[in-house]
Amino acid sequence: MHAQRLVDTAKALVAGDKGLLAMDESTPTCNRRFAGLGIAQTAEVRRAYRDMIVTTPRLGECISGAILYDETIRQLTFADTPFAQALEAAGIVPGIKVDAGAKELAGHCGELVTEGLDGLRERLIEYAAMGARFAKWRAVITIGDGLPSRGCIEANAHALARYAALCQEAGLVPIVEPEVLMDGDHPLGRCGAVTEEVLHTVFDQLHTQEVMLEGMLLKPNMILPGADCADQSNVDDVADATLGCFLRAVPAAVAGIAFLSGGQSSALASTRLSAMNLRFKSRMPWPLAFSFARAIQQPALEIWHGQAANVPAAQQALFHRAECNRAARRGEYDSAADAPRQT
Ligand code: 13P
Repeated sequence: MHAQRLVDTAKALVAGDKGLLAMDESTPTCNRRFAGLGIAQTAEVRRAYRDMIVTTPRLGECISGAILYDETIRQLTFADTPFAQALEAAGIVPGIKVDAGAKELAGHCGELVTEGLDGLRERLIEYAAMGARFAKWRAVITIGDGLPSRGCIEANAHALARYAALCQEAGLVPIVEPEVLMDGDHPLGRCGAVTEEVLHTVFDQLHTQEVMLEGMLLKPNMILPGADCADQSNVDDVADATLGCFLRAVPAAVAGIAFLSGGQSSALASTRLSAMNLRFKSRMPWPLAFSFARAIQQPALEIWHGQAANVPAAQQALFHRAECNRAARRGEYDSAADAPRQT
């Protein structure tokens, strides 16, 4: 195994006050976001959008690694450079989403299991040859009446662990992402209980599959009330619930934690990350970073709108969100100062 390389890459991804940019929306997800803004949904427009992102001036000052999608890693930027090489040149480690999406879990109405293990060993070798140094796999856990089931949690945890072991065999750092969705009207405590059960199961499976924790990153949800819950909890309660859960369920050997944003507003995601780093800095055994997609990209996407003329303004908005999250890693994000630009 490539133990030292894995440890070095994992550490580099969460070093200092930088974080990750997820720009790995699958084609249907990217198209859905484009359609919502009336942007044309073609491979060429998706390429232009991703070109805007990776050519953002000084992005490497805030972003340590960027996660690409299969279509993008095979495309060239407008400067005719493969996207992975363009990221490396900008001082950003290229990564790749390798799951094949969440599908209905047989026998478990309303629940999903992430697929993509078949042929994964060969795909990882191909991605590594294209320049990827880390990978991502997202499992989706739904909270509902009687949900999630043990069947759903165990099937997803097992797949995450099989994926992570294959990544490490191929020399790629696995980002293990068990996302408990925000959808629903459940209170904060229910998200906490479900997330804790999921994390215990995931780390049990990672141990069983002999995954090296020092050479992986965890990409979890924050512990939040459901999006439709009347009590939306204050920032400190979210920080305490989230870190309390992680301190009980995430082994200290894990190289780092990098949150997904999950549909929170950009400003709220930064505010909550900042509060967690401020309140728990001295008590955390792992760096607490970000691996946001929507919370970094959304303002830039709305400004860009598919128009080349808007690229500089969109890049400015993207850099601004990246810089805000960099401040949040230090516990120094000031949402009041950011207010005029919030989305
Ligand atoms: P969001 O930050 O938009 O939740 O996306 C993160 C991600 O990579 C989901 O897999």
